[in-house]
Formats: sequence, structure tokens, C-alpha cells
Amino acid sequence: SNDVSADLAHVLYTKEQIQDKIAELAVQIDRDYEGRDILVVGVLKGAVMVMADLARALHSHVNMDWMAVSSYGSGTTSSGVVRILKDLDTDLMGKHVLIVEDIIDSGLTLSWLKSNLISRGPASVEICTLLRKPEAAKVEIDVKYVGFDCPNEFVVGYGLDFSEKYRNLDFIGTLAPHVYQ
Ligand code: PRP
Ligand code: MN
Ligand code: MG
Repeated sequence: SNDVSADLAHVLYTKEQIQDKIAELAVQIDRDYEGRDILVVGVLKGAVMVMADLARALHSHVNMDWMAVSSYGSGTTSSGVVRILKDLDTDLMGKHVLIVEDIIDSGLTLSWLKSNLISRGPASVEICTLLRKPEAAKVEIDVKYVGFDCPNEFVVGYGLDFSEKYRNLDFIGTLAPHVYQ
């Protein structure tokens, strides 16, 4: 079958739950950044959906920029060393930077990215992630805005992929084992 729904075990967060959560995060962010312009930095490709919806939910002045990064190392163990595939177009000096992610898994991508961006002289760097997995607790990284603490399962949809598929789903679900086994 070519129907995506056959590949999913169950729905974790519905379209409505995701949109409600993003609206909630936007209220907090607008309040925290009152009177300041925000530079939102989306991490390609997973963060595209959160970026698009969060940016539209914000009432603050927002500039949008993008980075693409790739973890070094092979297999399942990540070294925490990250390579920049596409850098920002924006000079961060004096800017209020908000990194936007779809998910924090090991936390290695974001802990590297946050210190990399801090080294460029911004006024502030905070993180907003829609999902956070339990593993992320092991890495010392201050994440100011978290949508959902999600179970340690194979999650796809709303930007999250398995082999580049399922990013286009408007909800988040768990992948059926037959797909990855
Ligand atoms: C995923 C996800 C986060 C990162 C989290 O991106 O979108 O960016 O992994 O993992 P970590 O916390 O263990 O570092 P991925 O590298 O799969 O690229 P993608 O966004 O293009 O799917
Ligand atoms: Mn990603
Ligand atoms: Mg991915």
C-alpha cells in the first residue's frame, strides 16, 4: 500500500494538540521578548513545520534564518561533533536568538549549536523545541521552551522523518515496527 497511515502504530500528538501547544509557546515567547525583535533560527530539515507555525503564531517582530547541520560519526553513537552544512545568513551580534527544533533526542546537536551561536556575540540565545526525549536530560542544556516531553519511541511526522519520509504529516505518531525492522 502507498498509504502512509499503514506505517504508523499510533498517534502521539494530533494536529490540534500540536497547534494548541504552539499557540501556548507563542504566548510565553511574546511575553518574554516583549519589546525586542527575535531572530528565530530553524534547524533544517526537521524544524520546518514548527518554524512555519510558531513564526505565524508570534506577534513580536521576527526575522527567520536557517541552519543545516550534520552529526559526525556513524551508526547510533554520536560524537557530539557537528558539521555546518548551511550556515546562517545573519550576523548574530547583539541579536536575540531563538533556536527552533522539532526534537531533542540525545541533546548533542543543540548543546553544540547553542555554544556555537553564543560565540558569535548575540545578546541572548534560547531554545524552543516541540519534543524532548528522556535521553536529553543527560546533557546539561538549558531549554527554555518545551512543547511535549515525549516517550522514547520512534516518532515521525510534523517535520520528523524516518529515511526522509513522513515529514509532511500534520500530526506526530509512532512508526510501526514492520517499517524499520
Ligand atoms: C534530528 C532532529 C534534531 C536532532 C536531534 O535531526 O531534527 O535536529 O536529530 O538529535 P540529538 O538531540 O540526538 O542531537 P536529523 O539529524 O535527523 O536531521 P533532520 O532534521 O534533517 O531530519
Ligand atoms: Mn533536525
Ligand atoms: Mg532526521
